[in-house]
Amino acid sequence: MQVGIDQIGFYTPNKYVDMVDLAHARNEDPNKFLIGIGQNKMSVADQTQDAVSMGINATLRYLDQIARERVGLLIVGTESSVDQSKSASLFIKSALALPANVRTFEVKEACFGMTAGIMIARDYVRLHPHHSAIVIGSDIARYGVNTGGEVTQGAGSISMLIKADPQILAINNGHSSHSEDINDFWRPNDSAVAVVDGKYSKNVYLDFFKQTFTAYRKQTGIKTSDFTALLYHLPFVKMGFKANEWAITAQDEKTKKHLTENFTAAARYGKEVGNIYTASLYLSLLSLLENAKLPANAKIGLFSYGSGAMGEFYSGQIVKGYEKNLHTNADQKMIARRQKLTIPEYEKIFNQALESPQDNLELQSDEQTGTWYFAGTKNRIRQ
Ligand code: CAA
Repeated sequence: MQVGIDQIGFYTPNKYVDMVDLAHARNEDPNKFLIGIGQNKMSVADQTQDAVSMGINATLRYLDQIARERVGLLIVGTESSVDQSKSASLFIKSALALPANVRTFEVKEACFGMTAGIMIARDYVRLHPHHSAIVIGSDIARYGVNTGGEVTQGAGSISMLIKADPQILAINNGHSSHSEDINDFWRPNDSAVAVVDGKYSKNVYLDFFKQTFTAYRKQTGIKTSDFTALLYHLPFVKMGFKANEWAITAQDEKTKKHLTENFTAAARYGKEVGNIYTASLYLSLLSLLENAKLPANAKIGLFSYGSGAMGEFYSGQIVKGYEKNLHTNADQKMIARRQKLTIPEYEKIFNQALESPQDNLELQSDEQTGTWYFAGTKNRIRQ
């Protein structure tokens, strides 16, 4: 029995910052951000969008196309959690009107959280083939105004339905993992923004990729040239580009060409949206699916990295007719609909979003009708 990704939903907030504007405001050469970092734009979440609302909006993209009563598991991976105790998934479950007998919880290991959820879901569906699982990654990457990491921020969510006989990507057995207790990037409980050792984090990311990709190939006998595309967690596009360059070194020209072209297709959405932490790898997958032509059974490799740190490499096979289950026009419209912020507007929104809104004060959203948003708290209960 094949188990894998049957549906993919995507959401990103309705505002963005242009990297050229940001570079001018920070007295940097725009090419540092556009070429050196590889980013064009980044989505910005105001106070009314958070991990919960974005996760609901991403899942709504496909919810009316699935058998809701068959969903037995709902997992949310996030590092932008809204509560230290109650799971983000419970708010989402309620908004989506999923059955009461669903098992639901939140997982955390930095950007690895969504992959952890997918692996749990894959194994769950193998044991319960008549049930499906929804796995959501939903995050706002915040480093702070005028920090080195500012150019690598973003906001958004990816939601996936994992089921038997999937229509998009069948997940292969096996994976290679690597973990170490290190301090490259983290967010202490008393901080709304991440703490990061930027240069070190880049080195560790590459090291974990090399270790897991090498171990995976050794373990499975699969060669680099067998992959149609290699996908990476994309904190910023240049990071994945560096990993891909390492992977294709010493490959024949044909392999280099298709792995480079498919990397470009996979990076297209991330370049516009920025880092969405847990969902970043899966935004790359969506971007590849919607911007490349992939033959049935094409082998796709996925590298997941969560600071702290946990790395994992696994693979999947493209299912024939996968295009029919995508929402390409709607996804591209979602990115194109965003309004550009001036740098002072972005700074104001950013600083406001760091503060907890006053209790019993209803927040208003300028999102399109039908989009869920966080409306503040009433007697400390989220609305
Ligand atoms: N034209 C073209 N390129 C230029 C340039 C110009 N005018 N000026 C500089 N560059 C290039 C530099 O040569 C450099 O390229 P290389 O990486 O190939 O050497 C690149 O632009 C970036 O320059 P710097 O390294 O000097 O940039 P920086 O010191 O300002 O910081 C950063 C970059 C470390 C990525 C920082 O943005 C940061 O800390 N980001 C957050 C941390 C992060 O994303 N780490 C990734 C791994 S951790 C992870 O993946 C988990 C996660 O999601 C956070």
